[in-house]
Amino acid sequence: EELTIIRKFEHIEHCLKRNVQAHVSNGFEDVHFVHMSLPEIDKDEIDLSVEFLGRRFDYPIFIAGMTGGTKGSQLAGRINKTLAKAAQELNIPMGVGSQRAMIRKPETWESYYVRDVAPDVFLVGNLGAPQFSETIPERYGIEEALKAVETIGADALAIHMNPLQESVQPEGDTQYRGVLKALAELKAEFPYPIIAKETGAGVSKEVAVRLESIGIDAIDVGGLGGTSWSGVEYYRAKDELGRNLALRFWDWGIKTAVSVAEVRYSTDLPIIATGGMRDGITMAKALAMGATFAGVALPLLKPAMKGDVEGVIKILRRYIEEIRNAMFLVGARNVEELRRVPLVITGFTREWLEQRIDLPGYLRAR
Ligand code: FNR
Repeated sequence: EELTIIRKFEHIEHCLKRNVQAHVSNGFEDVHFVHMSLPEIDKDEIDLSVEFLGRRFDYPIFIAGMTGGTKGSQLAGRINKTLAKAAQELNIPMGVGSQRAMIRKPETWESYYVRDVAPDVFLVGNLGAPQFSETIPERYGIEEALKAVETIGADALAIHMNPLQESVQPEGDTQYRGVLKALAELKAEFPYPIIAKETGAGVSKEVAVRLESIGIDAIDVGGLGGTSWSGVEYYRAKDELGRNLALRFWDWGIKTAVSVAEVRYSTDLPIIATGGMRDGITMAKALAMGATFAGVALPLLKPAMKGDVEGVIKILRRYIEEIRNAMFLVGARNVEELRRVPLVITGFTREWLEQRIDLPGYLRAR
């Protein structure tokens, strides 16, 4: 398991030092608000709060899970605690990174622990879907899931789905057989909400429907257009064959905007729109398309690494002000009203959605 820990450290290093973003957009440039010259509201009265899994949050932004358990653990611990202080201050939810290292090396638990600095934050634990596969002899079950949540005092568990990343990394866990059934069994007994999350390749309507049918509580679409995990693995590849494979799949996946529409159209599950969310106008579009949160990972990594809580908050406040401004300019007093403003969808995103869903029906009922 030393490997898992070193690997997580390398991921952070590459994310900080190299360009690991997708070369394609997340699709929101195809989604347009219609400017309203008579908003008929005061900007000051706009309420950005949202409800999610029985809790109310002040802003519709989710800090996506990134780390824990890295070499030395201090780095990961600092990142998580810094993010947690910001989340506590703003009353927004956050996730930690994969707790696989903690399951194997319980002494790394502190690098995921933030309750001392963030007593009220809605905290989401994190385990990987392939670890639940029937192909793995020492597969995870309810015991590991409980350990992940309860060791750190989390409120929910995220199960990350990352077949793309696993498929292009040399030591990848490409066993996915029996995962859905295992998650259904877990969900039947597990006392905490479960969020199924992609990690940069998006969730289709077919997958969303299956996840809803087994009782999963929410979906983080983790779409294409932000951090590319094949991009990260490209830099980690050991030989030309590996580099070629990772490069070839760098931009594989379902764009975030497209995935939000597919999941909203096909299920009633709350949605977190993560993947390349880099400004508040884009975030407002995701909310208007039916997401409850916009999720952010990579932009917060640099200040978090330095322990710069104010730096993290500054970025988030910028997003918040941009969301608020967009809401003012379409006359939406709150996020619910934002979901009813007209949207115009053009280009690639429109062409995709016309072949996959009833686009006018979705736009009416989002
Ligand atoms: C991640 N992400 C991630 N997701 C997950 O479920 N478990 C994990 O351990 C990690 N680790 C991780 C490390 C780092 C350094 C980054 C940047 C990201 C994925 C993350 O939660 C998110 O889905 C994607 O990064 C897309 O969002 P951004 O980065 O485009 O905002």
